[in-house]
Amino acid sequence: MKAALIYFTGTGNSKRILEFAKSNISFECDVFDVIKDEVVDMSKYDCLMIFYPIYGFNAPKPIIDYVKKIQKIDENKKCLVMKNSGEHLFWNNGSSLHLRNILKRRNISLVSEYHYLMPYSFIFRHTDFMAYRMISVAEKLIALDMKDFLDGKYVKIKRFFGDSLFALILRIQWWGGRFNGRFYKIDQTKCIKCMKCVRDCPAQNIEFKDDKFKFGKKCLMCQKCVMYCPKDAFKSLGFFTSWKVNKPYSFVETHTFQKEAKPRYCKKNYQRYFEMFEKKIEESKK
Ligand SMILES: Cc1cc2nc3c(=O)[nH]c(=O)nc-3n(C[C@H](O)[C@H](O)[C@H](O)COP(=O)(O)O)c2cc1C
Ligand code: SF4
Ligand code: SF4
Repeated sequence: MKAALIYFTGTGNSKRILEFAKSNISFECDVFDVIKDEVVDMSKYDCLMIFYPIYGFNAPKPIIDYVKKIQKIDENKKCLVMKNSGEHLFWNNGSSLHLRNILKRRNISLVSEYHYLMPYSFIFRHTDFMAYRMISVAEKLIALDMKDFLDGKYVKIKRFFGDSLFALILRIQWWGGRFNGRFYKIDQTKCIKCMKCVRDCPAQNIEFKDDKFKFGKKCLMCQKCVMYCPKDAFKSLGFFTSWKVNKPYSFVETHTFQKEAKPRYCKKNYQRYFEMFEKKIEESKK
């Protein structure tokens, strides 16, 4: 058995999910970053695993573009999707429908799909308490989900009425990012010219010339530049400045409950997610 693991990540959450999955695989596997690496030749692998963050109820554009470049194979292969997002709501389910159809045309069947809650990289900042709770649930859950997948117990996506239409409309995010990204601005009085944002932008969208930062037309809205800026120097995110999340999450265990300053999430849904999956993890120990 040999697996190809492909991923896209903005601020690192999807890569963390991939690492958890990889640590539960005992057979050979190769990892492909859809931004940097060559297109996978699926005739050399037995299965495909895809990892991505949900952006605007869809898979990010780089994932779609990469999968479109995969060559059609003669023998049908199985695919698993592990997606993550700031909400575990059903309308995020449609994010893989387009992907599933592209894969089908390449003779790859999306047979199993999992969705994990991870801290928001955009919209608002979770507390470290919440971020740790999310990552520890994801880590344990992935161990159980990978075992199920490898035992041939597949989880089908739950469809809901109008999900493909909903995802189709919100695909505007793919193009909206390119437009909005041109309005990102840096506060030069805070900036220390470390060039981290320029170096690390996955779209190579930031240029520093004549002592000025220039944002191009390729922004993916991944928020990597904003989150990892050591001086919190981004003063405008175009139309979304109030959704800025600066400073990476620590993901270190903390038992002290912290109240969230501006909680912008569906509380009931979070409660349901934690109750359901923390119970599943506990039961698996028996
Ligand atoms: C541009 C953008 C759009 C997003 N859209 C959604 C969304 O539609 N639904 C959701 O639940 N979370 C959404 N999120 C939150 C991310 O899916 C979440 O923070 C994810 O863990 C980020 O993963 P990454 O670190 O691999 O980029 C969005 C984040 C960004 C940056
Ligand atoms: S990462 Fe922040 S401090 Fe460094 S160059 Fe970019 S804006 Fe300036
Ligand atoms: S400019 Fe920032 S948000 Fe846009 S693609 Fe680059 S790192 Fe991501």
